[in-house]
Amino acid sequence: MTTTTTSNQPAATPQLPETMRAVAHDEYGAPETLEMRTMPLPAPGEGEVLLAVEAAGIDRGTWHLTTGLPYAVRVAGFGVRRPKQPVAGMDVAGTVVALGPGVTRFAVGDTVFGIGSGSWADYAVAKAAKLAHRPAGITAEQAAAVPISGLTALQALRDAAKVQPGQRVLVLGASGGVGSFAVQIAAHLGAIVSGVASAAKADFVRSLGAADVIDYAREDALDGSVRYDVIIDTGGRNPLRRLRRALTPKGTLVIVGGEDGNRITGGFGRQLRAPLLSLFVSQRMTPFVSKERGGDIEVLAGMLAAGHVRAAVDRVVPLDQAATALADLAEGRVRGKAVVRVAA
Ligand SMILES: NC(=O)c1ccc[n+]([C@@H]2O[C@H](COP(=O)([O-])OP(=O)(O)OC[C@H]3O[C@@H](n4cnc5c(N)ncnc54)[C@H](OP(=O)(O)O)[C@@H]3O)[C@@H](O)[C@H]2O)c1
Repeated sequence: MTTTTTSNQPAATPQLPETMRAVAHDEYGAPETLEMRTMPLPAPGEGEVLLAVEAAGIDRGTWHLTTGLPYAVRVAGFGVRRPKQPVAGMDVAGTVVALGPGVTRFAVGDTVFGIGSGSWADYAVAKAAKLAHRPAGITAEQAAAVPISGLTALQALRDAAKVQPGQRVLVLGASGGVGSFAVQIAAHLGAIVSGVASAAKADFVRSLGAADVIDYAREDALDGSVRYDVIIDTGGRNPLRRLRRALTPKGTLVIVGGEDGNRITGGFGRQLRAPLLSLFVSQRMTPFVSKERGGDIEVLAGMLAAGHVRAAVDRVVPLDQAATALADLAEGRVRGKAVVRVAA
């Protein structure tokens, strides 16, 4: 496996500046509320490292934490009245420049990727347990596109759906961040993959390995004319009864997410009803929340290194355009993933 760049000699701790550039906000609001600031560097705590950020990912989760919508995310520990973490961004690829107490897995100078806190900045902290070494031959921009979306797709297919070779898998939202990884990983697991996306992104979804692509504006992928062993639902917010119609009698539905729910819960009711309904029918319907595990980021590193999965990076923007790219993502103007290039 080609996953490490650690040398035998520990790298000297670099001289760090006192301040850094960061994209931050004090109030929840539209992406335009994010602004470039000069801020002090964060300090790594127990089990954390400080990274010099090379590239940072843009994902739906960052949109939810920027807007504070649905309100449920605020009470989930991110700050009820205002964001606890003012700096935006979670996905990160960079170089370890300092270690917090108790970190043994990484050394100063290691190039890593994973999930951090406040990654839209020159420096960010991350828990060592949520990082992996960046594979040789994978750029920081590619690596930064992977963690949250890739982890979600991997765990939804492998752990929640337990996809087997030869199964028919339908990915709703196949052109999105999670969907672009789900199509590739399902195909890599030997499934026959159908993707649902807008017509403009059909060729893109096919290029990821989908055997066919269904345009949600013109065709109904859930009319029951084709039944799927597994449906990975990341877009469209279809009701359970419609989703069940397209499942085989023993099929599995994994509800990852979907936008345009109500402002309070985001339409989480589907996720609550799904396991209850599963008790009374032969199909399995399961809500899904990804787990931020470094071990699975290592798995994704291996898949990237082997060429089984690629980061489908649509565009790379500089730090001062991160908020605009986030707004573009929310408006459906990104194909796969957008990434922020942080280091000069
Ligand atoms: N449960 C978890 O742990 C977890 C983790 C990560 C994300 N999520 C959630 O999962 C969802 C997807 O995340 P993402 O990062 O992939 O978002 P994204 O990049 O914005 O992708 C959204 C996808 O939904 C598609 N879509 C829009 N309307 C649709 C419709 N009517 N029918 C079918 N597909 C439709 C879009 O297609 P076009 O662009 O082609 O229109 C796009 O492919 C979000 O709600 C996010 O919050 C949950």
